[in-house]
Amino acid sequence: MIEPQYVIEGAGVLLRRSIAPRASNEFDPFLLFDHFAFNDPIEGPIRGFPMHPHRGIETVTYMLEGATHRRDSLGNSGLIGPGDVQWMTSGRGILHEEMPRRGPNGAIYGFQLWVNLPARLKMAAPRYQEVSADTIPTFEKGGAKLRIVAGTAEGVTGPVTDIAAAPLYFDAQLAPGTEFVQPLPAEHTAVAYVFEGEAVFGDQTVAAVRMIKFGPGERVNVRTENSGVRFMLIAGRPFGEPIAPYGPFVMNTREEIQQALIELRDGTFIRDEPG
Ligand code: CO
Repeated sequence: MIEPQYVIEGAGVLLRRSIAPRASNEFDPFLLFDHFAFNDPIEGPIRGFPMHPHRGIETVTYMLEGATHRRDSLGNSGLIGPGDVQWMTSGRGILHEEMPRRGPNGAIYGFQLWVNLPARLKMAAPRYQEVSADTIPTFEKGGAKLRIVAGTAEGVTGPVTDIAAAPLYFDAQLAPGTEFVQPLPAEHTAVAYVFEGEAVFGDQTVAAVRMIKFGPGERVNVRTENSGVRFMLIAGRPFGEPIAPYGPFVMNTREEIQQALIELRDGTFIRDEPG
């Protein structure tokens, strides 16, 4: 069981962090999971994440309330609104800005997941998959409601495709007294992030806000009793490669990190050529 830790990132953004990038790579292929929640409309100014680089990873932003305004070195900009997902594959490098904005009731609520890239794709061209809320398929049956972003659950496949980690990423809501089973490939790493209510996963009761990591080969068995639950299910195939995390970069060796820093300093980090 993982209790999220409060951390400050960017220009002073308070986050709940459950997974942080570490060389031990115990969540392989996942590197980071952050939950941002600002619920007090009179809380001071909302700071964000001014221009910063990424290399060697994918960042997945899923908003539930409020929005994130984004802008990047490829010339893209726009809003990630409630229910939207942005799956950004940084490959060899992007520079981007991510600035949260309050929703109509003053709240900002969302998640950012970092997924690793295998060595052979760390220097590939950057790629974005922008998914608007109305194109995320929903499965509803017997007290279970799923929004499937990537992978397949209950026969429904999410719109994000061609991701090296073959991830499963969905938002699940279960009414009280519901049972739900998600089969997983035996070798995949899987976690659930419970952010509302509580449920019994296997034989462990998990109440919000906590992350549970499943053992190898476990299928996910969830059962709710008197309360409902809402959680993110995150699973993927580990790469089994050594990693060298350094701030917004995750490479395989320290030399590759040094190289990224040199390119940033020399102004050669962003390359124009496609492919
Ligand atoms: Co970023």
